[in-house]
Amino acid sequence: MTLHSLSQEKNFPRPFNENYELLGVLGQGGMGYVYKAKDLRLQRDVALKVLDASSDKEAIERFYLEARAMKELDHQNIVHVFDFGEHKKQLFIAMTYVEGTSLAEVLRNKSKLDFGAIELLAKQTARGLLFAHSKGIVHRDVKPSNIMLTHDNRVYLMDFGISYIQELEKERLTMTGMAMGTPEYMSPEQCHGDEVTLSSDIYSLGVILYEMTCGRLPFIGAKPIEIALKHVQEAPPAPEIFRPNIPLGLSKLILKCLEKKPENRFRDMEEFLDAVDAVFEQNKQQKNNTEKTRTPLLSQSLLRESVQKIIPLQKRLMLSGMFLFPLIIILMIALMLLYRPSHTLEEIAPSELHGAFLEKSIEPENSNYTPENLFDGDIHEAWIFPKPANKKNPILTMQFKKTVLITHIGFASGYQKSVDDGIGDRFNIYNKPKTLFIKTKEGMQQEIRLEDVRGMQYPPMNPLETSEIQLYLSKSFVSDTSQAYAISEMRFLGMELQ
Ligand SMILES: Nc1ncnc2c1ncn2[C@@H]1O[C@H](COP(=O)(O)OP(=O)(O)O)[C@@H](O)[C@H]1O
Ligand SMILES: [Mg+2]
Repeated sequence: MTLHSLSQEKNFPRPFNENYELLGVLGQGGMGYVYKAKDLRLQRDVALKVLDASSDKEAIERFYLEARAMKELDHQNIVHVFDFGEHKKQLFIAMTYVEGTSLAEVLRNKSKLDFGAIELLAKQTARGLLFAHSKGIVHRDVKPSNIMLTHDNRVYLMDFGISYIQELEKERLTMTGMAMGTPEYMSPEQCHGDEVTLSSDIYSLGVILYEMTCGRLPFIGAKPIEIALKHVQEAPPAPEIFRPNIPLGLSKLILKCLEKKPENRFRDMEEFLDAVDAVFEQNKQQKNNTEKTRTPLLSQSLLRESVQKIIPLQKRLMLSGMFLFPLIIILMIALMLLYRPSHTLEEIAPSELHGAFLEKSIEPENSNYTPENLFDGDIHEAWIFPKPANKKNPILTMQFKKTVLITHIGFASGYQKSVDDGIGDRFNIYNKPKTLFIKTKEGMQQEIRLEDVRGMQYPPMNPLETSEIQLYLSKSFVSDTSQAYAISEMRFLGMELQ
């Protein structure tokens, strides 16, 4: 029975020979079919690869040689070959049936893999190859369809050395006019027809790493010969182009695998594995460090969350701005007496400092205002200095429960008249300020220039890490109508640090 007729017989199960019963087709490769089969002697499922036997005697001999060697390969990352032979002019290999997905299929569904998956696949594939190389076996055909991934993340390499017989067979077929396979994962020496060594496997693994990382192959061409030529002549495009956040070490590692000359690649799989370890170890450490100091520093959602936590207080402060007072002022004064900022700003040109609030309350008259009202989420305490009895006073002091990173301060000031949203009086200031001076408890100082624009502005500032912040206003724009300005809103964007 020829391979062709075998594949066309769809009725399963059916016997292959006295030892195997074919249960179904697992896949089709360049040279034949792979079936799920039952090993009748041992009553277990196997994958049975069936190749059309070559008429070439040398090829068959070679097949036996390779198959015998493969049977010796007993490793957790290599599909085990149980049996091989010839039946009705068909060569067959019985091997571990792997329940899973081939990497080719994984890449078809998700072109770029995350770095964790890349690490897992790189390491386990390399371990399998290292073992085979140590037994003197070169794979020769390392490609995604020869790498299987199980559901519990075990990687299996398949088809060691089989490519040799396939190559011979292809030559025969090519001579008879059939198309040659694609050389996407082939090393330059393979493309060139030179000797194939373990270094060729390193190159092919490099191509796979490139593909998993970049979501595309390093060399693309319309015809096999075009791709082959590129393998031999062209430098691969830098992986960063397709994966900007690639760790630098990983990019270098991939490119080292893809060196044209075998002697410029990793010496062996052991050296490759050490390099993989180093890259991902370093990457993890960097990640940990960032997470430790800045969690979750760069997350926009957390940024927003923390803004939301801070803003209600601001709103409350603003709302309260419209009401009267004496009780509150007394409370404020009490508060001020209870707590004095450890540092006060030494020097602000008095003539330019106009920031101050009118004697307005910060809570409705009849409310049970207590300083505790100002406890709010991240903010431990905050208070507004109602009257600049002392011009060195900050307009606002805020303490945070945890150290925070303030990345932006939004500031809106405008004509009081323009404020007609029912909130009423805002924190009046006499002039529109030109600068916001910030001082942190930790001793950082920063002057932020405010633009003379209406509405909320987020002037550029350097992020501040602090647990207490004091804000001062200074250098006003000359105003036409004095006392007509108000701070309508201030926002603090930032995040808590761990
Ligand atoms: N041991 C196996 N267990 C499960 N599936 C297999 C096994 N070997 C091969 N396959 C499936 O059969 C397909 C064809 O394999 P193969 O003939 O080696 O061609 P190729 O490797 O070129 O895809 C593979 O892509 C894979 O999905
Ligand atoms: Mg295969």
